[in-house]
Amino acid sequence: MTLSEMAVAVLNTANGRAKAALSREYAAQWRAARANGTPPEIGHAKPPLRAARPEKPELLDPRDVPHRKPGTEEGRIALLHAVAHIELNAIDLHWDIIPRFAHIQLPLGYYDDWVKSADEESKHFNLMCDCLEELGSHYGALPAHAGMWRAAEDTVDDLMGRLAVVPMVLEARGLDVTPGMINIFKQAKNKSAVAALETIYAEEVHHVSYGAKWFNFLCGRHDLDPTGVFHELVRKYFHSSLKPPFNEEKRAEAGIPPDFYWPLTEQHKK
Ligand SMILES: [Fe+2]
Ligand SMILES: [Fe+2]
Repeated sequence: MTLSEMAVAVLNTANGRAKAALSREYAAQWRAARANGTPPEIGHAKPPLRAARPEKPELLDPRDVPHRKPGTEEGRIALLHAVAHIELNAIDLHWDIIPRFAHIQLPLGYYDDWVKSADEESKHFNLMCDCLEELGSHYGALPAHAGMWRAAEDTVDDLMGRLAVVPMVLEARGLDVTPGMINIFKQAKNKSAVAALETIYAEEVHHVSYGAKWFNFLCGRHDLDPTGVFHELVRKYFHSSLKPPFNEEKRAEAGIPPDFYWPLTEQHKK
């Protein structure tokens, strides 16, 4: 199988645990073949416009997803469920970027980065499912956000737009909010959720940095100013302003400087 065919097989798998398992299996195959110096071809395969998803959770408009207080067990289950949903979307997003843009010549390191990210998202999804099951719930028990795949659909023919919006805006936002979530579970003395979220927090920095790396690479290839192009693409494809407070330290670690995100906040628009 080519790497693009593997990606499409993951995208077309509906069940969450099965999608994560297939994703981890292909990532291991890719890693082993790369270590042997015999990577599969990138090839071409047509990704679905929408990745296959399980029948549950029911997908609602973000405005209709009920908000629950994190101070209650019910609220913490809802929080873990929301993160599980993000991780499942992230598995698909990282695989989608491979066949979607296979017509663009890129170094093999580009594929290494996204296969590794997809593998980590699969681990994160499993961790969140384990935490939910420990609390007597499961992924699919609550409704979830329908909006998350929109960034993928909006950028189906714009790789730089995809990199700007998915890893450099959405995943960077994860760096801003995860420490607060870890605190919620520390207070609730839920050790497995704290450990799972700490793993997620540590690994998400890489995904953001891969986004910044390949965004800058493409700017260099096309002789473009990264800051200006980033602002232009986020304004085009991301339908709201960026919200402080930002985790400036982790964003810096991931290669995203302040002049990338501050000008896109509400204050700067006025
Ligand atoms: Fe993740
Ligand atoms: Fe990620």
